[in-house]
Amino acid sequence: MQNHQENYIKIMKEKNKNKLVTYSILTMGCQLNENDSEKIAGMLENMGYSFIEDYKKANLIIFNTCCVRENAEERLLGKIGEIKKIKERRNVILAIGGCMMQEKNMVDKIKKSYPFVDVIFGTHTMQNLPENIYKATVKQEKVKDIMDIDGEIYEGLPIKRNDQFKASVTIMYGCNNYCTYCIVPYVRGRERSRKPEKILEEIKQLAQEGYKEITLLGQNVNSYQGDNNIRNFADLLEEVCKVDGIERVKFISPHPKDFTDDVIETIAKNKKICRMIHLPLQAGNTKVLQEMNRKYTKEQYLALVQKMKTKIPDIVFSTDIIVGFPGETDEEFEDTLDVVRKVNFEQVFMFIYSIREGTVAAGREDQIPEKIKHERFNQLKELYNNSVDKNNEKYIGTVQNILIEGYSKNNKTTFTGRTDTNKVIIFEESEECRIGDMVKVKITEAHKWYLKGEIIDTKK
Ligand code: SAH
Ligand code: SF4
Ligand code: F3S
Repeated sequence: MQNHQENYIKIMKEKNKNKLVTYSILTMGCQLNENDSEKIAGMLENMGYSFIEDYKKANLIIFNTCCVRENAEERLLGKIGEIKKIKERRNVILAIGGCMMQEKNMVDKIKKSYPFVDVIFGTHTMQNLPENIYKATVKQEKVKDIMDIDGEIYEGLPIKRNDQFKASVTIMYGCNNYCTYCIVPYVRGRERSRKPEKILEEIKQLAQEGYKEITLLGQNVNSYQGDNNIRNFADLLEEVCKVDGIERVKFISPHPKDFTDDVIETIAKNKKICRMIHLPLQAGNTKVLQEMNRKYTKEQYLALVQKMKTKIPDIVFSTDIIVGFPGETDEEFEDTLDVVRKVNFEQVFMFIYSIREGTVAAGREDQIPEKIKHERFNQLKELYNNSVDKNNEKYIGTVQNILIEGYSKNNKTTFTGRTDTNKVIIFEESEECRIGDMVKVKITEAHKWYLKGEIIDTKK
Protein backbone atom coordinates (compact mmCIF):
# COMPACT_ATOMS: atom_id res chain seq x y z
CA MET A 1 0.00 0.00 0.00
CA GLN A 2 1.27 3.50 -0.82
CA ASN A 3 2.53 5.62 2.10
CA HIS A 4 0.46 8.50 0.88
CA GLN A 5 -2.74 6.45 1.34
CA GLU A 6 -1.51 5.08 4.68
CA ASN A 7 -1.43 8.69 5.88
CA TYR A 8 -5.05 9.23 4.92
CA ILE A 9 -5.95 6.02 6.71
CA LYS A 10 -4.34 7.41 9.88
CA ILE A 11 -6.06 10.78 9.55
CA MET A 12 -9.47 9.15 9.11
CA LYS A 13 -8.85 6.73 11.95
CA GLU A 14 -8.12 9.66 14.25
CA LYS A 15 -11.25 11.44 13.06
CA ASN A 16 -13.47 8.41 13.62
CA LYS A 17 -11.91 7.56 17.01
CA ASN A 18 -14.39 6.86 19.81
CA LYS A 19 -17.31 7.22 17.42
CA LEU A 20 -19.49 4.62 15.80
CA VAL A 21 -19.22 5.42 12.11
CA THR A 22 -20.57 2.64 9.92
CA TYR A 23 -20.00 1.49 6.34
CA SER A 24 -21.77 -0.94 4.07
CA ILE A 25 -20.81 -2.29 0.65
CA LEU A 26 -23.21 -3.50 -1.99
CA THR A 27 -21.32 -5.67 -4.48
CA MET A 28 -23.10 -6.11 -7.77
CA GLY A 29 -20.58 -8.09 -9.81
CA CYS A 30 -18.56 -11.28 -10.07
CA GLN A 31 -16.14 -12.88 -7.63
CA LEU A 32 -13.38 -10.50 -8.72
CA ASN A 33 -15.58 -7.64 -7.64
CA GLU A 34 -16.33 -9.46 -4.37
CA ASN A 35 -12.60 -9.77 -3.77
CA ASP A 36 -12.16 -6.03 -4.50
CA SER A 37 -14.95 -5.32 -2.01
CA GLU A 38 -13.05 -7.30 0.61
CA LYS A 39 -10.09 -4.97 0.05
CA ILE A 40 -12.33 -1.90 0.20
CA ALA A 41 -13.69 -3.24 3.50
CA GLY A 42 -10.11 -3.78 4.73
CA MET A 43 -9.21 -0.15 4.03
CA LEU A 44 -12.40 1.18 5.63
CA GLU A 45 -11.96 -0.90 8.79
CA ASN A 46 -8.44 0.48 9.13
CA MET A 47 -9.92 3.97 8.78
CA GLY A 48 -12.09 3.35 11.84
CA TYR A 49 -15.35 2.47 10.09
CA SER A 50 -17.49 -0.39 11.43
CA PHE A 51 -19.37 -2.79 9.20
CA ILE A 52 -23.14 -2.74 9.10
CA GLU A 53 -25.11 -5.19 6.97
CA ASP A 54 -28.04 -2.96 6.02
CA TYR A 55 -26.65 -0.30 3.70
CA LYS A 56 -29.69 1.88 4.30
CA LYS A 57 -28.48 2.44 7.87
CA ALA A 58 -24.80 3.11 7.10
CA ASN A 59 -22.93 6.42 7.32
CA LEU A 60 -20.81 5.49 4.32
CA ILE A 61 -22.27 3.47 1.46
CA ILE A 62 -20.16 1.91 -1.29
CA PHE A 63 -21.65 0.49 -4.46
CA ASN A 64 -19.22 -1.80 -6.28
CA THR A 65 -20.72 -2.03 -9.75
CA CYS A 66 -20.72 -4.48 -12.66
CA CYS A 67 -21.55 -3.72 -16.29
CA VAL A 68 -21.30 -7.09 -17.98
CA ARG A 69 -25.02 -7.07 -18.82
CA GLU A 70 -27.51 -4.30 -19.43
CA ASN A 71 -29.90 -4.77 -16.50
CA ALA A 72 -27.12 -3.73 -14.10
CA GLU A 73 -27.62 -0.09 -15.11
CA GLU A 74 -31.28 0.11 -14.16
CA ARG A 75 -30.53 -1.63 -10.91
CA LEU A 76 -27.76 0.82 -10.01
CA LEU A 77 -29.82 3.89 -10.90
CA GLY A 78 -32.65 2.55 -8.75
CA LYS A 79 -30.29 2.12 -5.81
CA ILE A 80 -28.85 5.62 -6.26
CA GLY A 81 -32.44 6.93 -6.14
CA GLU A 82 -32.94 5.13 -2.81
CA ILE A 83 -29.86 6.80 -1.36
CA LYS A 84 -31.05 10.21 -2.57
CA LYS A 85 -34.08 9.84 -0.31
CA ILE A 86 -31.87 8.88 2.64
CA LYS A 87 -29.60 11.85 1.94
CA GLU A 88 -32.60 14.18 2.21
CA ARG A 89 -33.09 13.03 5.81
CA ARG A 90 -29.57 12.60 7.14
CA ASN A 91 -25.89 12.87 6.36
CA VAL A 92 -24.56 9.94 4.37
CA ILE A 93 -21.61 9.56 2.03
CA LEU A 94 -22.19 7.62 -1.19
CA ALA A 95 -19.21 6.27 -3.13
CA ILE A 96 -19.66 4.35 -6.37
CA GLY A 97 -16.86 2.26 -7.84
CA GLY A 98 -16.21 -0.82 -9.93
CA CYS A 99 -16.46 -1.75 -13.58
CA MET A 100 -19.39 0.44 -14.60
CA MET A 101 -17.50 3.53 -13.50
CA GLN A 102 -14.96 2.79 -16.24
CA GLU A 103 -17.70 3.58 -18.76
CA LYS A 104 -17.52 7.26 -19.57
CA ASN A 105 -21.17 7.64 -20.54
CA MET A 106 -22.30 6.16 -17.19
CA VAL A 107 -20.05 8.51 -15.21
CA ASP A 108 -21.31 11.48 -17.24
CA LYS A 109 -24.89 10.40 -16.61
CA ILE A 110 -24.32 10.12 -12.86
CA LYS A 111 -22.51 13.46 -12.71
CA LYS A 112 -25.36 15.14 -14.57
CA SER A 113 -28.45 13.49 -13.10
CA TYR A 114 -27.20 12.47 -9.65
CA PRO A 115 -24.83 15.29 -8.58
CA PHE A 116 -25.19 14.30 -4.91
CA VAL A 117 -22.97 11.21 -5.39
CA ASP A 118 -19.86 11.96 -3.30
CA VAL A 119 -17.15 9.72 -4.77
CA ILE A 120 -16.83 8.02 -8.15
CA PHE A 121 -13.86 5.68 -8.51
CA GLY A 122 -12.81 3.11 -11.09
CA THR A 123 -11.25 -0.33 -11.17
CA HIS A 124 -7.73 1.12 -11.48
CA THR A 125 -8.07 3.64 -8.64
CA MET A 126 -9.60 1.58 -5.85
CA GLN A 127 -6.43 1.89 -3.78
CA ASN A 128 -6.93 5.70 -3.55
CA LEU A 129 -10.10 5.24 -1.55
CA PRO A 130 -8.65 6.49 1.78
CA GLU A 131 -7.75 9.83 0.19
CA ASN A 132 -11.04 10.05 -1.69
CA ILE A 133 -13.13 9.31 1.39
CA TYR A 134 -11.10 11.92 3.29
CA LYS A 135 -11.83 14.52 0.60
CA ALA A 136 -15.54 13.67 0.62
CA THR A 137 -16.01 13.64 4.38
CA VAL A 138 -13.54 16.22 5.72
CA LYS A 139 -13.32 18.61 2.77
CA GLN A 140 -16.86 17.91 1.61
CA GLU A 141 -15.68 17.72 -1.99
CA LYS A 142 -17.25 15.74 -4.81
CA VAL A 143 -14.56 13.39 -6.09
CA LYS A 144 -14.15 11.72 -9.47
CA ASP A 145 -11.10 9.47 -9.61
CA ILE A 146 -11.00 7.41 -12.80
CA MET A 147 -8.00 6.27 -14.78
CA ASP A 148 -8.37 4.99 -18.33
CA ILE A 149 -5.01 3.31 -18.57
CA ASP A 150 -4.29 0.04 -16.80
CA GLY A 151 -3.54 0.40 -13.16
CA GLU A 152 -0.47 -1.11 -11.57
CA ILE A 153 -0.91 -4.04 -9.26
CA TYR A 154 -1.05 -2.78 -5.71
CA GLU A 155 0.13 -5.38 -3.24
CA GLY A 156 -0.48 -5.28 0.48
CA LEU A 157 -3.90 -3.65 0.60
CA PRO A 158 -5.58 -4.53 3.88
CA ILE A 159 -8.37 -7.04 3.49
CA LYS A 160 -11.43 -8.04 5.48
CA ARG A 161 -12.62 -11.39 4.21
CA ASN A 162 -16.24 -12.48 3.98
CA ASP A 163 -15.60 -16.06 5.07
CA GLN A 164 -13.58 -17.79 7.73
CA PHE A 165 -12.52 -20.93 5.85
CA LYS A 166 -12.85 -20.08 2.19
CA ALA A 167 -10.81 -17.31 0.60
CA SER A 168 -10.51 -15.84 -2.88
CA VAL A 169 -7.11 -14.81 -4.18
CA THR A 170 -6.94 -12.73 -7.35
CA ILE A 171 -3.90 -13.90 -9.34
CA MET A 172 -4.32 -11.83 -12.48
CA TYR A 173 -6.19 -8.73 -13.51
CA GLY A 174 -7.74 -7.74 -16.83
CA CYS A 175 -8.41 -9.64 -20.02
CA ASN A 176 -6.86 -9.62 -23.50
CA ASN A 177 -9.38 -11.83 -25.24
CA TYR A 178 -11.89 -9.33 -26.55
CA CYS A 179 -14.73 -11.75 -27.01
CA THR A 180 -16.93 -9.65 -29.29
CA TYR A 181 -19.92 -9.50 -26.91
CA CYS A 182 -17.95 -8.62 -23.79
CA ILE A 183 -17.23 -5.29 -22.09
CA VAL A 184 -14.78 -6.66 -19.50
CA PRO A 185 -11.52 -5.98 -21.46
CA TYR A 186 -12.59 -2.33 -21.81
CA VAL A 187 -13.31 -1.80 -18.13
CA ARG A 188 -10.66 -4.03 -16.56
CA GLY A 189 -7.76 -3.31 -18.91
CA ARG A 190 -5.02 -5.61 -20.20
CA GLU A 191 -3.89 -8.80 -18.51
CA ARG A 192 -1.53 -8.29 -15.60
CA SER A 193 -0.35 -11.19 -13.43
CA ARG A 194 0.70 -10.91 -9.81
CA LYS A 195 4.15 -12.17 -8.86
CA PRO A 196 4.04 -15.84 -7.81
CA GLU A 197 5.81 -15.15 -4.52
CA LYS A 198 3.20 -12.55 -3.56
CA ILE A 199 0.38 -14.99 -4.32
CA LEU A 200 2.00 -17.81 -2.36
CA GLU A 201 2.79 -15.48 0.55
CA GLU A 202 -0.89 -14.55 0.72
CA ILE A 203 -2.00 -18.19 0.58
CA LYS A 204 0.49 -19.33 3.24
CA GLN A 205 -0.75 -16.55 5.46
CA LEU A 206 -4.34 -17.66 4.86
CA ALA A 207 -3.43 -21.24 5.75
CA GLN A 208 -1.89 -20.02 9.02
CA GLU A 209 -5.10 -18.17 9.79
CA GLY A 210 -7.01 -21.43 9.39
CA TYR A 211 -8.32 -21.07 5.85
CA LYS A 212 -8.96 -24.41 4.13
CA GLU A 213 -10.19 -23.53 0.69
CA ILE A 214 -8.62 -21.19 -1.86
CA THR A 215 -10.20 -19.96 -5.07
CA LEU A 216 -7.74 -18.49 -7.56
CA LEU A 217 -9.39 -15.71 -9.52
CA GLY A 218 -8.83 -14.09 -12.89
CA GLN A 219 -10.96 -13.21 -15.91
CA ASN A 220 -8.74 -15.58 -17.81
CA VAL A 221 -7.12 -17.40 -14.94
CA ASN A 222 -5.19 -20.00 -16.94
CA SER A 223 -3.34 -17.44 -19.03
CA TYR A 224 -1.50 -16.50 -15.82
CA GLN A 225 2.15 -15.52 -16.47
CA GLY A 226 4.66 -16.25 -13.73
CA ASP A 227 8.45 -15.98 -13.56
CA ASN A 228 11.42 -18.27 -14.31
CA ASN A 229 10.55 -20.67 -11.51
CA ILE A 230 6.80 -20.68 -11.40
CA ARG A 231 6.23 -20.12 -15.08
CA ASN A 232 2.56 -20.51 -15.70
CA PHE A 233 -0.81 -21.49 -14.30
CA ALA A 234 0.04 -25.21 -14.02
CA ASP A 235 3.17 -24.43 -11.96
CA LEU A 236 1.23 -22.06 -9.73
CA LEU A 237 -1.55 -24.59 -9.11
CA GLU A 238 1.07 -27.17 -8.15
CA GLU A 239 2.66 -24.79 -5.63
CA VAL A 240 -0.68 -23.79 -4.13
CA CYS A 241 -1.51 -27.46 -3.57
CA LYS A 242 1.74 -27.84 -1.61
CA VAL A 243 0.72 -25.27 0.99
CA ASP A 244 0.11 -27.11 4.27
CA GLY A 245 -3.34 -26.61 5.70
CA ILE A 246 -5.01 -25.82 2.38
CA GLU A 247 -7.37 -28.71 1.68
CA ARG A 248 -9.15 -27.56 -1.42
CA VAL A 249 -8.17 -25.46 -4.43
CA LYS A 250 -10.55 -23.99 -6.99
CA PHE A 251 -10.10 -21.56 -9.86
CA ILE A 252 -12.29 -19.41 -12.11
CA SER A 253 -12.55 -18.66 -14.96
CA PRO A 254 -10.30 -20.64 -17.25
CA HIS A 255 -10.55 -20.15 -21.01
CA PRO A 256 -10.82 -23.38 -23.05
CA LYS A 257 -8.17 -22.13 -25.50
CA ASP A 258 -5.58 -21.92 -22.70
CA PHE A 259 -6.42 -25.24 -21.03
CA THR A 260 -3.02 -26.85 -21.60
CA ASP A 261 -2.08 -30.48 -21.00
CA ASP A 262 0.15 -29.54 -18.08
CA VAL A 263 -2.84 -27.98 -16.28
CA ILE A 264 -4.83 -31.18 -16.88
CA GLU A 265 -1.91 -33.28 -15.53
CA THR A 266 -1.67 -31.06 -12.46
CA ILE A 267 -5.37 -31.46 -11.72
CA ALA A 268 -5.15 -35.23 -12.28
CA LYS A 269 -2.39 -35.69 -9.74
CA ASN A 270 -3.54 -33.22 -7.08
CA LYS A 271 -6.58 -34.42 -5.17
CA LYS A 272 -6.85 -31.03 -3.50
CA ILE A 273 -8.03 -29.47 -6.75
CA CYS A 274 -11.81 -29.31 -6.96
CA ARG A 275 -13.29 -31.80 -9.43
CA MET A 276 -15.82 -29.32 -10.75
CA ILE A 277 -14.16 -27.36 -13.53
CA HIS A 278 -15.85 -24.24 -14.83
CA LEU A 279 -15.29 -24.29 -18.58
CA PRO A 280 -17.17 -21.44 -20.28
CA LEU A 281 -18.69 -22.65 -23.54
CA GLN A 282 -20.66 -19.49 -24.53
CA ALA A 283 -22.06 -21.17 -27.67
CA GLY A 284 -21.96 -24.61 -29.25
CA ASN A 285 -21.79 -23.65 -32.90
CA THR A 286 -18.40 -23.16 -34.53
CA LYS A 287 -19.48 -20.23 -36.71
CA VAL A 288 -21.00 -18.43 -33.72
CA LEU A 289 -17.91 -19.17 -31.66
CA GLN A 290 -15.76 -17.70 -34.37
CA GLU A 291 -17.91 -14.58 -34.49
CA MET A 292 -17.64 -14.36 -30.72
CA ASN A 293 -13.83 -14.53 -31.13
CA ARG A 294 -13.63 -17.49 -28.75
CA LYS A 295 -10.77 -19.17 -30.66
CA TYR A 296 -12.07 -22.76 -30.43
CA THR A 297 -14.51 -24.86 -32.43
CA LYS A 298 -17.35 -27.05 -31.21
CA GLU A 299 -15.19 -30.10 -31.87
CA GLN A 300 -12.17 -28.69 -30.03
CA TYR A 301 -14.32 -27.92 -26.99
CA LEU A 302 -15.78 -31.43 -26.96
CA ALA A 303 -12.34 -32.97 -27.47
CA LEU A 304 -10.98 -30.99 -24.51
CA VAL A 305 -13.82 -32.21 -22.30
CA GLN A 306 -13.25 -35.77 -23.45
CA LYS A 307 -9.52 -35.59 -22.77
CA MET A 308 -10.16 -34.26 -19.27
CA LYS A 309 -12.79 -36.94 -18.57
CA THR A 310 -10.29 -39.62 -19.61
CA LYS A 311 -7.39 -38.25 -17.57
CA ILE A 312 -9.44 -37.22 -14.53
CA PRO A 313 -12.22 -39.81 -14.17
CA ASP A 314 -14.10 -38.05 -11.34
CA ILE A 315 -14.25 -34.69 -13.13
CA VAL A 316 -17.48 -32.77 -13.76
CA PHE A 317 -18.09 -29.47 -15.52
CA SER A 318 -19.96 -26.23 -15.13
CA THR A 319 -20.29 -23.59 -17.81
CA ASP A 320 -21.52 -20.19 -19.00
CA ILE A 321 -23.75 -19.96 -22.06
CA ILE A 322 -25.06 -16.95 -23.96
CA VAL A 323 -28.23 -17.40 -26.03
CA GLY A 324 -29.22 -15.08 -28.86
CA PHE A 325 -25.84 -13.79 -29.97
CA PRO A 326 -26.39 -11.61 -33.10
CA GLY A 327 -27.10 -13.69 -36.18
CA GLU A 328 -27.50 -16.98 -34.26
CA THR A 329 -29.97 -19.17 -36.19
CA ASP A 330 -32.18 -21.91 -34.73
CA GLU A 331 -29.90 -24.56 -36.23
CA GLU A 332 -26.84 -22.92 -34.74
CA PHE A 333 -28.52 -22.79 -31.35
CA GLU A 334 -29.17 -26.54 -31.70
CA ASP A 335 -25.40 -27.00 -31.51
CA THR A 336 -25.43 -25.37 -28.07
CA LEU A 337 -28.09 -27.85 -26.92
CA ASP A 338 -26.07 -30.68 -28.48
CA VAL A 339 -22.93 -29.75 -26.51
CA VAL A 340 -24.97 -29.43 -23.31
CA ARG A 341 -26.31 -32.96 -23.83
CA LYS A 342 -22.90 -34.39 -24.64
CA VAL A 343 -20.92 -32.80 -21.81
CA ASN A 344 -23.68 -33.25 -19.23
CA PHE A 345 -22.78 -30.14 -17.22
CA GLU A 346 -23.48 -30.18 -13.49
CA GLN A 347 -24.14 -26.46 -13.54
CA VAL A 348 -25.04 -24.11 -16.37
CA PHE A 349 -25.09 -20.34 -15.95
CA MET A 350 -27.33 -19.07 -18.73
CA PHE A 351 -27.40 -15.54 -20.07
CA ILE A 352 -29.51 -13.78 -22.64
CA TYR A 353 -27.24 -11.83 -24.98
CA SER A 354 -27.19 -8.22 -23.95
CA ILE A 355 -25.86 -5.39 -26.14
CA ARG A 356 -22.83 -3.68 -24.63
CA GLU A 357 -22.02 -0.39 -26.34
CA GLY A 358 -18.47 -0.25 -27.61
CA THR A 359 -18.13 -3.98 -28.27
CA VAL A 360 -17.93 -5.41 -31.80
CA ALA A 361 -21.16 -7.42 -31.56
CA ALA A 362 -23.14 -4.37 -30.44
CA GLY A 363 -22.64 -2.85 -33.89
CA ARG A 364 -24.23 -5.78 -35.71
CA GLU A 365 -27.52 -5.26 -37.43
CA ASP A 366 -28.71 -8.84 -37.18
CA GLN A 367 -29.66 -8.65 -33.48
CA ILE A 368 -32.01 -11.44 -32.40
CA PRO A 369 -35.56 -10.42 -31.35
CA GLU A 370 -36.18 -10.56 -27.57
CA LYS A 371 -38.94 -13.14 -28.02
CA ILE A 372 -36.61 -15.62 -29.73
CA LYS A 373 -33.87 -15.04 -27.18
CA HIS A 374 -36.33 -15.85 -24.39
CA GLU A 375 -37.59 -18.96 -26.16
CA ARG A 376 -34.05 -20.25 -26.54
CA PHE A 377 -33.30 -19.43 -22.93
CA ASN A 378 -36.33 -21.46 -21.81
CA GLN A 379 -35.40 -24.37 -24.06
CA LEU A 380 -31.89 -24.48 -22.61
CA LYS A 381 -33.24 -24.16 -19.07
CA GLU A 382 -35.56 -27.10 -19.56
CA LEU A 383 -32.79 -29.31 -20.91
CA TYR A 384 -30.55 -28.32 -18.03
CA ASN A 385 -33.24 -28.84 -15.35
CA ASN A 386 -33.80 -32.40 -16.53
CA SER A 387 -30.10 -33.21 -16.46
CA VAL A 388 -29.67 -31.80 -12.93
CA ASP A 389 -32.09 -34.38 -11.52
CA LYS A 390 -30.28 -37.27 -13.15
CA ASN A 391 -26.85 -36.02 -12.15
CA ASN A 392 -27.87 -35.64 -8.52
CA GLU A 393 -29.36 -39.12 -8.31
CA LYS A 394 -25.98 -40.58 -9.31
CA TYR A 395 -24.58 -39.43 -5.96
CA ILE A 396 -26.93 -41.55 -3.81
CA GLY A 397 -24.96 -44.23 -1.95
CA THR A 398 -21.56 -42.68 -2.71
CA VAL A 399 -19.14 -41.39 -0.07
CA GLN A 400 -17.93 -37.82 -0.58
CA ASN A 401 -15.23 -35.60 0.94
CA ILE A 402 -16.94 -32.59 2.41
CA LEU A 403 -15.58 -29.32 3.69
CA ILE A 404 -18.00 -28.19 6.39
CA GLU A 405 -18.84 -24.59 5.56
CA GLY A 406 -21.37 -23.70 8.22
CA TYR A 407 -24.80 -24.37 9.64
CA SER A 408 -27.83 -24.61 7.43
CA LYS A 409 -29.87 -21.39 7.42
CA ASN A 410 -33.09 -23.08 8.49
CA ASN A 411 -31.79 -25.64 10.92
CA LYS A 412 -29.04 -24.93 13.43
CA THR A 413 -28.17 -28.57 14.05
CA THR A 414 -27.56 -29.24 10.37
CA PHE A 415 -24.23 -28.62 8.67
CA THR A 416 -23.81 -27.52 5.08
CA GLY A 417 -20.80 -28.11 2.92
CA ARG A 418 -19.70 -28.98 -0.57
CA THR A 419 -18.39 -32.10 -2.29
CA ASP A 420 -15.17 -32.16 -4.32
CA THR A 421 -17.46 -31.58 -7.27
CA ASN A 422 -18.94 -28.45 -5.69
CA LYS A 423 -22.37 -29.95 -4.88
CA VAL A 424 -24.11 -28.45 -1.87
CA ILE A 425 -24.82 -31.04 0.79
CA ILE A 426 -26.59 -30.90 4.15
CA PHE A 427 -26.18 -33.37 7.02
CA GLU A 428 -26.74 -33.68 10.77
CA GLU A 429 -23.94 -32.19 12.88
CA SER A 430 -21.65 -34.36 14.95
CA GLU A 431 -19.92 -33.42 18.19
CA GLU A 432 -16.60 -34.65 16.84
CA CYS A 433 -16.31 -32.09 14.09
CA ARG A 434 -16.55 -28.37 13.54
CA ILE A 435 -17.01 -25.87 10.75
CA GLY A 436 -13.88 -25.89 8.58
CA ASP A 437 -13.24 -29.65 8.99
CA MET A 438 -13.04 -32.09 6.11
CA VAL A 439 -15.24 -35.15 6.72
CA LYS A 440 -16.54 -38.14 4.81
CA VAL A 441 -20.28 -38.13 4.20
CA LYS A 442 -22.45 -40.82 2.66
CA ILE A 443 -25.12 -39.42 0.35
CA THR A 444 -28.63 -40.59 1.20
CA GLU A 445 -30.98 -38.31 -0.75
CA ALA A 446 -30.83 -36.22 -3.92
CA HIS A 447 -32.81 -33.01 -4.25
CA LYS A 448 -32.79 -30.50 -7.07
CA TRP A 449 -30.34 -27.99 -5.62
CA TYR A 450 -28.71 -30.00 -2.83
CA LEU A 451 -27.90 -33.48 -1.56
CA LYS A 452 -28.56 -34.95 1.90
CA GLY A 453 -26.21 -37.29 3.70
CA GLU A 454 -24.78 -38.58 6.96
CA ILE A 455 -21.28 -38.34 8.38
CA ILE A 456 -19.49 -41.69 8.33
CA ASP A 457 -16.01 -40.55 9.24
CA THR A 458 -14.92 -37.36 10.93
CA LYS A 459 -11.32 -37.84 9.77
CA LYS A 460 -10.38 -37.04 6.25
N1 SAH B 1 -13.89 -14.12 -18.08
C1 SAH B 1 -14.91 -15.00 -17.76
C2 SAH B 1 -16.20 -14.37 -17.29
C3 SAH B 1 -16.72 -13.17 -18.00
S1 SAH B 1 -18.24 -12.48 -17.51
C4 SAH B 1 -15.07 -15.92 -18.91
O1 SAH B 1 -14.57 -15.69 -19.97
O2 SAH B 1 -15.69 -16.92 -18.72
C5 SAH B 1 -19.24 -13.84 -17.08
C6 SAH B 1 -20.16 -14.32 -18.14
O3 SAH B 1 -21.07 -13.34 -18.54
C7 SAH B 1 -19.49 -14.75 -19.43
O4 SAH B 1 -18.92 -16.00 -19.35
C8 SAH B 1 -20.63 -14.68 -20.41
O5 SAH B 1 -21.31 -15.93 -20.46
C9 SAH B 1 -21.55 -13.64 -19.82
N2 SAH B 1 -21.54 -12.43 -20.65
C10 SAH B 1 -20.51 -11.63 -20.93
N3 SAH B 1 -20.90 -10.63 -21.75
C11 SAH B 1 -22.22 -10.81 -21.99
C12 SAH B 1 -23.20 -10.12 -22.77
N4 SAH B 1 -22.89 -9.06 -23.48
N5 SAH B 1 -24.46 -10.61 -22.75
C13 SAH B 1 -24.78 -11.69 -22.05
N6 SAH B 1 -23.92 -12.38 -21.31
C14 SAH B 1 -22.64 -11.95 -21.28
FE1 SF4 C 1 -15.06 -11.32 -21.48
FE2 SF4 C 1 -14.07 -13.14 -23.08
FE3 SF4 C 1 -12.45 -11.85 -21.44
FE4 SF4 C 1 -14.18 -13.59 -20.45
S1 SF4 C 1 -12.50 -14.07 -21.81
S2 SF4 C 1 -13.77 -11.56 -19.70
S3 SF4 C 1 -15.93 -13.36 -21.80
S4 SF4 C 1 -13.57 -10.97 -23.15
FE1 F3S D 1 -18.95 -7.49 -13.88
FE2 F3S D 1 -16.63 -6.35 -13.74
FE3 F3S D 1 -16.91 -8.83 -12.94
S1 F3S D 1 -18.06 -6.13 -15.37
S2 F3S D 1 -18.51 -9.58 -14.22
S3 F3S D 1 -17.85 -7.09 -12.05
S4 F3S D 1 -15.12 -7.95 -13.88
